[in-house]
Amino acid sequence: MKINGTAYRSLWRPTDDNRSIRIFDQTRFPWEVEILALRDENAVAHAIRSMQVRGAPLIGAVAAYGLIFAIQKDASDDALKAAADMLVETRPTAINLRWAIERMVKHLLTLPVEERVAAGYAEADALCDEDVAVNEAIGRHGLELIRQAWKAKGEQGTVNVLTHCNAGWIATVDWGTALAPIYMAHDEGIPVHVWVDETRPRNQGSLLTAFELGSHGVAHTVIADNAGGHYMQAGKVDLVIVGTDRVTAQGDVANKIGTYLKALAAHDNNVPFWVALPSSTIDWRVRDGVKEIPIEERSAEEVLYVTGIDDTNTPSRVRVAPPASTGANPAFDVTPARLVTGLITERGCCDASEEGLRSLFPLDSTT
Ligand code: MRU
Repeated sequence: MKINGTAYRSLWRPTDDNRSIRIFDQTRFPWEVEILALRDENAVAHAIRSMQVRGAPLIGAVAAYGLIFAIQKDASDDALKAAADMLVETRPTAINLRWAIERMVKHLLTLPVEERVAAGYAEADALCDEDVAVNEAIGRHGLELIRQAWKAKGEQGTVNVLTHCNAGWIATVDWGTALAPIYMAHDEGIPVHVWVDETRPRNQGSLLTAFELGSHGVAHTVIADNAGGHYMQAGKVDLVIVGTDRVTAQGDVANKIGTYLKALAAHDNNVPFWVALPSSTIDWRVRDGVKEIPIEERSAEEVLYVTGIDDTNTPSRVRVAPPASTGANPAFDVTPARLVTGLITERGCCDASEEGLRSLFPLDSTT
């Protein structure tokens, strides 16, 4: 995808410094486009924890390189496993992180110690290329849903899609999940407009999704998180598409806090509620998402303060609660499968259910 006319992935390995990676510092968007070089596992862990990189697929891909940076010093089994444990713990809800690290470790443990670094880079590069291909396929399947919505409107007006948080190209290596179908619809000439939930407390919607959509020329409107239900009642939302951090074997969906409320509102208003995901987001080891998915609790400061820029372009952080008030900040919630119209995967769309998932992924294992 492009920023100011230049095509980028969200993560790349420069040819002249190929034992490092480059990422965008996502805490600086949309005010600045700042590229960070990461070359050791602690910098990778910090980037993930501080959300300089974020989005389930992207943190998995970045962590894969973090593992190689760690074994450049010591590629023994013990060092590999210690680095893997450290990286997996950086964020608890997005399963792609564990998926990527387990894939790397499984592969590297089969190899002699002296071959592990080179093989690790090759495997992480492959993981990134696969992420791009998978998201493009998700885009193609999701595009069909937008096309249907457009046809259902008699090809008049605009298809209005509501999304929450940021599941665009900067949350993945490229394309995004929930936003990939929107980019494709736009590129195909379908008039599409996106209601962008601001997504408090960190505002990934107003800061990141709006930035991405604007850079691609997609019509969008930033709305307060609480406005979605109102627009659904008014018939102004044709479908909801969100991303996810973990989908259970029975189709429950963890995503950014507030997703569940949007699903409830969509259900009450007969608005289709679709969830876009690569299969690396399916956690076959858990079934009941509400009971079994660990929900990351982040600093209450993120709720008690907001950060923005003033009219002189100076970033500022202001408190939006009384000095003595405390806050709580669960970063994700779980939408039960019964509220999900369907899942958009790289292999096509399916019901949010075990049967649905197994119809597309019959052989994927639980370990
Ligand atoms: O806390 P974040 O910003 O990493 O949360 C991101 C989301 O919730 C996304 O919707 C999800 O990771 C899917 S990204 C393709």
